[in-house]
Amino acid sequence: MGTEGHDLVPYESFLEKTRQSSSVSLHAGFLSRTYARQLMKEGETAALQSARLWLPPNTTQLQGNEFHYNLFESMITGRNLAEDAPSDTFRGIFQAQLLKDVAMAHRINTIIEGHPDDRFLVLAGNGHVSHYQGVPERVLAQHPDLIPQSCLIVSRVWNETTLLSEATAAQIVSSSSYENAADYILAYQETRTEEAVKKDVAEMYNQVGDTAHLEGNLMRARAILKYLEYTDDDIAVAGRDAYNYQGVGNPHKHAQIQPGERVLDVGCGLGVDSFIAAHRTGPHGQVIGIDLSHSEVEHANRRAQSREMKHLEFIVADMEHIPLPDASVDVIVSNGAFCLAPNKKKAFAELFRVLRPGGRISICTSTLRSHQLPEGVQWPLCMEMFIVKDQLGPLCAELGFENIVVDDSNSKMVYELPEETGTLNPDRHRVHGNNPAFRHLEEINE
Ligand SMILES: C[S@@+](CC[C@H](N)C(=O)[O-])C[C@H]1O[C@@H](n2cnc3c(N)ncnc32)[C@H](O)[C@@H]1O
Repeated sequence: MGTEGHDLVPYESFLEKTRQSSSVSLHAGFLSRTYARQLMKEGETAALQSARLWLPPNTTQLQGNEFHYNLFESMITGRNLAEDAPSDTFRGIFQAQLLKDVAMAHRINTIIEGHPDDRFLVLAGNGHVSHYQGVPERVLAQHPDLIPQSCLIVSRVWNETTLLSEATAAQIVSSSSYENAADYILAYQETRTEEAVKKDVAEMYNQVGDTAHLEGNLMRARAILKYLEYTDDDIAVAGRDAYNYQGVGNPHKHAQIQPGERVLDVGCGLGVDSFIAAHRTGPHGQVIGIDLSHSEVEHANRRAQSREMKHLEFIVADMEHIPLPDASVDVIVSNGAFCLAPNKKKAFAELFRVLRPGGRISICTSTLRSHQLPEGVQWPLCMEMFIVKDQLGPLCAELGFENIVVDDSNSKMVYELPEETGTLNPDRHRVHGNNPAFRHLEEINE
């Protein structure tokens, strides 16, 4: 079963199919996505009633311990687990996590009890195993006799330099954060290749490019640009292209592009920041926008032509392989594209190569505040690619960049738009907006 269309599967036939299977993972994904919404909207009693066949008989409430909530909330907010106390903001969605945990533990216990002579390998997520919360402690609480015979293995995605290093593995095992959790560590490499991620990204944004010619909501777009502190002049230059803005910030605030400069816009999308940059450089300067998506690039080139901006050109290219000579640009801007780069180091190194000595880069990118996205929630591909904010500065410094500023002012992911800005044109493709698979994220924001 794919991730989309869960709500369309007839409940009874799904149930029958999964009950016959000994796999628990399908069951977990289904539970977390399907009942989270019901739990948040209708409350625990209604959700427990709908999920009753997955739960131990007579389950009337979902109980989790305070440490587990503390851990869950810290993963969502990035708060240091050991320092401040958690807020109550995520108590609602935490109940959905508990529902999944209780159901998974029950399923595992049922299988174990049905096969007393067998041994089992139970694969649980890192959040469960590293901190021994959620499923493992529920299974063993039910079967204390199994404690001496069981062994916990923590799995970690590792890069190739440390994958086989015994010394590193030993160091991790002995470090305090793992002390009480696992008996062994399984280090593995992510199987999804960086090239596969980029192919998916290009496909997603080709769909955006295909509907970019349809009229969007200009008033809303202008309100967003204004909120992000684009100047009135910038907004006037964006003109009706403003509704094709897809960025996450305002790179011009720090780029301060000057007349006559040579500018590169990395992951330019439909070109809004490039148009603004080209206005700032004037005809004696030059702007090149690169993007993985050919349909966005084609649209942006058509717009540059009709705007008669001859010093502006868009090219299909990967930011890891920029088709420009060394030290050939004065300024690099990028807005919302580094969020998607699977290999940030390679991408930043390529920027360093094409930037002239003394040049400037201004990159707007979404980041994570914590080191791990919480489990039990399906995150969009881009969020899985986000870099941790504190890693950005050291990464750039390591590559040779100087005078690095990480500006996280005005970086809220949610803000109120005036009501009169109206709604979006549903015929225009949006990367996250049209995808029912991620509706649960709106509930996390509530
Ligand atoms: C969120 S959009 C932002 C577009 C544009 N900068 C804006 O602000 O409107 C991200 C863009 O980055 C592009 N992108 C992602 N990875 C890229 C890569 N490796 N090389 C070039 N472009 C990339 C995508 O195709 C997409 O157009």
